[in-house]
Amino acid sequence: MKTMKKLGLAALLTGTLLVAGGASAQDHGGGHVPARQSWSFAGPFGTFDTAQLQRGFQVFREVCSNCHSMTKLNFRNLSQPGGPQFSEAQVKALAAEYKVQDGPNEDGKMFERNGRPSDAWPSPYPNAQAARAAIGAAPPDMSLLAKARSYSRGFPMFLVDAVIQYQEHGVDYIYALLNGYSKNDDPTWNDYMPGNHIAMAKPLSDGQVDYTDGSPKTSQQYARDVAAFLMWSAEPHLEQRKKTGFRVMAFLILLSSLLYFTKKKIWANVAH
Ligand code: HEC
Repeated sequence: MKTMKKLGLAALLTGTLLVAGGASAQDHGGGHVPARQSWSFAGPFGTFDTAQLQRGFQVFREVCSNCHSMTKLNFRNLSQPGGPQFSEAQVKALAAEYKVQDGPNEDGKMFERNGRPSDAWPSPYPNAQAARAAIGAAPPDMSLLAKARSYSRGFPMFLVDAVIQYQEHGVDYIYALLNGYSKNDDPTWNDYMPGNHIAMAKPLSDGQVDYTDGSPKTSQQYARDVAAFLMWSAEPHLEQRKKTGFRVMAFLILLSSLLYFTKKKIWANVAH
């Protein structure tokens, strides 16, 4: 009788999970489901690859930042541990290349000055309307894009993603999207954009960005590096979160086994 009950419960649970999984395993809003890439920061022990983040920043700066803003990025973040880790002198020189608005001064006027490491990354357009007027559509701010475009892979893979891999998804989507312009006769077509039509012209082509570390100058490599950079900007403390997460899991497993053996010991001499 007991076994029957247990079996019934197990079947019910599996059924619920399957139904829930079926519901979330959608087709990513009409686009293809992005293929999984292997990233240095995937998995419970993942870490960012500094050289990759530096290349990704180069792509962002030379290409994407002409249209997209990144309001949550400050110049000085680029020299912080765990990120692209440029030197402070490099960041200072970089910031000084940009003009930022400051003020008001004593006459009540706004003025322009050279950028400083504590300044936010300058936006290419003052607001979404200005962007729309200039290029036809407003590009989303890039600060949190890699997290904002995350999705669930559905049952059972979401369990694997959540418990074992800690794999980020938004980053796979960005990589796929950048390489998803598959129709030469329709430049607005993108295999991965939900709805398939995108107001961003294909931003990357081979040879466009001049890497100095010998990495391939291909649009695939650019897409991979800039996607990694966007993952970092969206979650600069990802490494710390994973380390903490792992410790918590280890602790919970230890605690559960201690409780199990305690229970066994306490009930050992009780007839039941
Ligand atoms: C010429 C301007 C321009 C450039 C350069 C550009 N983008 Fe875009 N991007 C846009 C616009 C406009 C949209 C909004 C598209 C839409 O909503 O259909 C967009 C949207 C996006 C999206 C969001 C798609 C979605 O799911 O809504 C991503 C991701 C993206 N761009 C990444 C990049 C990356 C990475 C780069 C640099 C390699 C880049 N973009 C360069 C204009 C640009």
